[in-house]
Amino acid sequence: MTIESVESSGVTFLKVTNSVGLALTLSDFGAGIYEIRYLGVPMTIAQKDKAEWLHSDAYFGKTVGRIAGRIKEGKLDYLGKTYSLSVNEGVNTLHGGVEGFSFKMFKMDVVHLGDGIAVDYYLVSKALEMGFPGEVDLRVRYLIKENEPVFRIVYDAKSSEQTPLNFTSHTYFNLGGEDTVERQILYIDANETETYDSAMIPLGFAPAPKCLDFTTPKAVGKDINDPYLQNARTLGYDHCFAFRSNKSSFPVLTLENGSFKLSLRTSLPAVQIYSDNYPRMGALLTNGQKEKQHSGLAIEPVYKPNDFHAMTCMPYEGKRNFIEYTFSKKGE
Ligand code: GAL
Repeated sequence: MTIESVESSGVTFLKVTNSVGLALTLSDFGAGIYEIRYLGVPMTIAQKDKAEWLHSDAYFGKTVGRIAGRIKEGKLDYLGKTYSLSVNEGVNTLHGGVEGFSFKMFKMDVVHLGDGIAVDYYLVSKALEMGFPGEVDLRVRYLIKENEPVFRIVYDAKSSEQTPLNFTSHTYFNLGGEDTVERQILYIDANETETYDSAMIPLGFAPAPKCLDFTTPKAVGKDINDPYLQNARTLGYDHCFAFRSNKSSFPVLTLENGSFKLSLRTSLPAVQIYSDNYPRMGALLTNGQKEKQHSGLAIEPVYKPNDFHAMTCMPYEGKRNFIEYTFSKKGE
């Protein structure tokens, strides 16, 4: 395992490379993933310019919280009270508000384990920060195994009072640095998808329309121009998929091309898929390409939108979830 540390704009970028060629570059700002490479090949996209990456509204690779997704008019109805949240997308709250966790400096710690390394990021979020109830103590742990092309993100939260939490990793994947992800093959173990109003506020799940059915693997680009996906707010995928209840059939999602495969396992019940529908046209990316529509696929494991019951963290009990990504090279 090698660890290289680079400082940029007051932020520590830590590059951890294991013995089988999996390299993660992590950032204490936003407890995020700036880049993933496997065998020297880019697996993700992000704005290459680090100063722009830090404050990007695309959330490239960042930890999102307290609640990923949109909350209508910034009003959180929870346990009989209404909390006024920070609004940052018109009248609505997106990804935890103006200063959600993606824009917070975390404390970093590196722990050497027998078979790998843990890079830990810590944050304390005060009660009513961005309007959310209760103080929250979060550790985001990136676990990188020494001898396997696998990493796991573990979220461990404690709260001073009952509060809903829905963290995710907003990493955009594109295996092998292709110009877009449209030719890559996606499988999702989900046959129900979220429906939305015209402002992308979630309305509830319904059987997945054909264009959102990835239970039989198909190219990301195959149905991306379907009229269902082409309204003013989407222009591609921006949908939450609920995994089928039987999760014994791990992995719940795979993405592949002719050379590489990515597999997802998670304790979370759903995944938000966003196909970079509003790119920063022409911005240079970490994979050497210039950003354009569908440059990458954000794969964000989450609780179902508005399911505040499932998101609940009980005081002093804590809440843990994990997201695990495995890479493989075809023909190996
Ligand atoms: C996604 C969200 C999109 C967009 C994106 C950030 O999670 O579903 O609508 O806001 O984040 O650019």
